[in-house]
Amino acid sequence: MAFYREDYVLVKKKFEEKRNKAKEQALARREYLCEQIPGMRQICDTIESAGPRAYRAALLGREGFDERFAEIRRQTEELVEKQAEILAENGFPKDYFDVKYECPVCRDEGNVDGRMCECMRAELIKAGYVSSGISGLCGRMSFETFDTSYYSGEDRRNAELILDRCRRYAKEFHGKGSGSMIFMGGTGLGKTHMSVAVAKAVVEAGYSVYYRTAEELFADFRAERFRRFDDNSPVRTDRYAECELLVIDDLGTETSGRDVTSFLYSLLNMRINSGMPTLISTNLSHKDMISVYDERIASRLLGEFLPYRFTGTDVRMQKLKE
Ligand SMILES: Nc1ncnc2c1ncn2[C@@H]1O[C@H](COP(=O)(O)OP(=O)(O)O)[C@@H](O)[C@H]1O
Ligand SMILES: [Mg+2]
Ligand SMILES: [Zn+2]
Repeated sequence: MAFYREDYVLVKKKFEEKRNKAKEQALARREYLCEQIPGMRQICDTIESAGPRAYRAALLGREGFDERFAEIRRQTEELVEKQAEILAENGFPKDYFDVKYECPVCRDEGNVDGRMCECMRAELIKAGYVSSGISGLCGRMSFETFDTSYYSGEDRRNAELILDRCRRYAKEFHGKGSGSMIFMGGTGLGKTHMSVAVAKAVVEAGYSVYYRTAEELFADFRAERFRRFDDNSPVRTDRYAECELLVIDDLGTETSGRDVTSFLYSLLNMRINSGMPTLISTNLSHKDMISVYDERIASRLLGEFLPYRFTGTDVRMQKLKE
């Protein structure tokens, strides 16, 4: 479980900014009250200097240290009490000077006792929806919204099986070695819906996911190939190789060409050889795959990808009639 590196860097930075802002605001509140209330600055300064004074008291030697220390402590406690009284008298809450962190559990550090705090995990998942490319879809398309009552008879049993297997796939996902799947079948049968549902659950489990339509994928590879030598923009195709789950939607709808076949072959080969899971959805049949790409790709896809055939009647059409 890694999350997407770039999301991690951004979220870390956001937390740091959040922390700094909370501290600045606490300082501003302190400054405000010190300006407003006579004697408050002296009280604050004295309370805050208790640490350094105790340190100096220790440097004076063991002899009389306990008394010196007790005196500092007594004085500080007295001042803290006095400060609280003044705050109350002036109608300010007791914690007015405290740094107000957004997350009291981790104090906006993002981790507690060496473990990632839930607040940071939630933030990374939110970032993951966006960076994976599913944010526009995953509100509507999830396991929860996949409704098997749109299918009837044998088709419903098939849809239930697919839902069950995909849920399990996402639950057991562990990056490398999780296996690859291909969703086949006609238009409107829920292939995209199911792909996004899997992608969403895998993002939520903390993995880096990249969802692209075949059209976008090949456009990226073509752009990468024809990139000018002096163009230093980051290599966008890296993500296709690096993400822990790659989802290619609608394979076969892209503008065809020999380059497409070779991009696809090297990408699939690379991911298969290194055990990186890929999820493909397509309207193509096995025969189409051979004619659109070639035998090598078709046999790669059928040999290495667990196939699920979506059957039934166009759900989009059914929904239009609702
Ligand atoms: N089982 C389902 N339950 C709820 N909505 C579905 C289901 N299957 C498909 N849809 C919806 O119907 C539309 C078409 O489905 P989609 O997944 O895009 O089909 P495909 O990718 O197979 O062409 C989408 O809006 C999708 O959310
Ligand atoms: Mg689709
Ligand atoms: Zn937290």
